[in-house]
Amino acid sequence: MNAVAARPHRLTPDQVPDTVVEVLDRDEKAELTERIRRLLREQDATLVAHYYTSPELQELADASGGYVSDSLDMARFGTECASSTLIVAGVRFMGETAKILNPEKRVLMPDLGAECSLDLGCPPDEFAAFCDAHPDREVVVYANTSAAVKARADWMATSGIALDLVRHLHAEGRKILWAPDRHLGAWVQKETGADVLLWDGACVVHEAFKADGLRVLKAEHPGAMVLVHPESPADVIALADFVGSTTGIIKAAKELPADTFIVATDNGIFHKMREAAPHKTFIEAPTGGKGATCVSCAHCPWMAMNGLRSLARVLERGGNEIHVDPTIRERAARPIQRLLDFARSRRAVVLGNNDA
Ligand code: 13P
Ligand code: SF4
Repeated sequence: MNAVAARPHRLTPDQVPDTVVEVLDRDEKAELTERIRRLLREQDATLVAHYYTSPELQELADASGGYVSDSLDMARFGTECASSTLIVAGVRFMGETAKILNPEKRVLMPDLGAECSLDLGCPPDEFAAFCDAHPDREVVVYANTSAAVKARADWMATSGIALDLVRHLHAEGRKILWAPDRHLGAWVQKETGADVLLWDGACVVHEAFKADGLRVLKAEHPGAMVLVHPESPADVIALADFVGSTTGIIKAAKELPADTFIVATDNGIFHKMREAAPHKTFIEAPTGGKGATCVSCAHCPWMAMNGLRSLARVLERGGNEIHVDPTIRERAARPIQRLLDFARSRRAVVLGNNDA
């Protein structure tokens, strides 16, 4: 069973900022990089970046002893890293997850305006009412949610482990309430056969990928394989040779026997894909372009808010610290920690960037 019970939660165009990518010349990049590396050392800080951030940030994270990965692995790394300050280059839920798991650490973000359409499309009060209306269901929320929504959940999930977790719950006879991404939830339901009730939210980046355009592109590149993040619509997923998390997609690019890949996820991932498979060719899956319904054109407007300039500013002037209400934090920590323990017990903690 796969039912959608909540009302649609999509952002209006004015809620989605333009995607503005930081442009730096060589001298500015070198100067900022040096300055940030010094500030990181002086402040006992470690930079943890998501695969969708700029190549400059990812290179800096790698070169300064930090980390670049997917959302689950970023959370795990934060708990193992000894630094007293974590700089999370990603979106707000990633910073909040880091703070929830490491309340004693200072967690900073280059830009606190870096939201996520899934998080914004799941207001905590409405979500709590939805859960109250279905008390017989195990509440599983995607990492891309606020601390208050996590506080209402039994489990947190990420795309890297959602199938494993829901298969496990289904085998225990549990019915699932899944939020907020309906595409990811529908894919999980289809793959596991579990009884899943869906919240109707979506990612503005992934929901824009188009199956029609993808079919045309496949025909133009007959040898290409298609890699899709499961936040994409079902008709796009149906055309995929591989469906999985960002780490899974990078690994697939390296291991699958093709020289060309069409990729349906944020194009920030191309940096690590090219590192992992330098001789292969990567093509963006079509979104329909600005004139159609493409809001982001395959690059998350909120991820793009992270840059070297904003990172330097935050280290120099302070501010942009993540705070989570202690009561909410305590409750939100449970579903996250439960997932990390589950992942460890399955030995399914997603491979880090060194393994991708
Ligand atoms: P991953 O957990 O696969 O990194 O995805 C996070 C995300 O925001 C995808 O849009
Ligand atoms: Fe959220 Fe989509 Fe951006 Fe990921 S790509 S952070 S799901 S808006």
